[in-house]
Amino acid sequence: MTRARIGVLASGGGSNLQALLDHLAERGDARGGDVVVVASNRPDAGALTRAADAHVPAVVLASPHAPRGADLASTLREHGVDLVVLAGYMRLVPSDVTRAYHGRMLNVHPALLPEFGGPGMYGPRVHRAVIAAGARESGPTVHFVDDVYDHGAIIAQWPVPVLANDDEHSLARRVLRAEHLLFPRVVDAVAAGHVRLAPNGSVHGSRFHERRLSMMDPTLDDRALAAQLDRTVGASAPI
Ligand code: GRF
Repeated sequence: MTRARIGVLASGGGSNLQALLDHLAERGDARGGDVVVVASNRPDAGALTRAADAHVPAVVLASPHAPRGADLASTLREHGVDLVVLAGYMRLVPSDVTRAYHGRMLNVHPALLPEFGGPGMYGPRVHRAVIAAGARESGPTVHFVDDVYDHGAIIAQWPVPVLANDDEHSLARRVLRAEHLLFPRVVDAVAAGHVRLAPNGSVHGSRFHERRLSMMDPTLDDRALAAQLDRTVGASAPI
């Protein structure tokens, strides 16, 4: 099986990148893809250090912070990237790139889209808005990227409870924990060709067909949650 060549774009600490690298390593020969490049618009992004530690090429993209940085489209081309993964990437991807990677670009958003998404809805603001709205649940959404912010077809959502005494930090931690478990599994499934975007815009795939999973139980440990997630989404043959 030829494995997908995954390019990760990240602006921050890169904990989602790390979760993906760890998950793919754990999957061994069964993994659907390999991370072949990590690119960031911020020269100081922790994601770049994590990439270097994993012996993955790390590239700084042109931005107000790095005016002499590399160009996104040519970086993806040079590394032969088949699948683009946005893991905490805080800039809008130009529409020529989203179009070139239609059905081959994924994002994780830390709330249940279509609510609490769109321009300006990132970082702590998302969790503050969720709490201010009195929502009883939040959680990560993994979706295909199109050229409208936080808008593309949803592949999977994993609700987590919003607790009465939550502030933006405690809620962010709970959601991030769910992201770390869910996102790598979805990336792997798309990389393996088990999940795909159909021409009519719907998501096909025997894994994650229940787009909204049942509520995460935050009292369980990561191993139990991972096992539950793997059971829920099941393993399946390519479609
Ligand atoms: C995550 O909450 C992700 O959903 C959001 O940005 C955060 C990235 O964290 N888009 P990290 O850089 O992966 O640690």
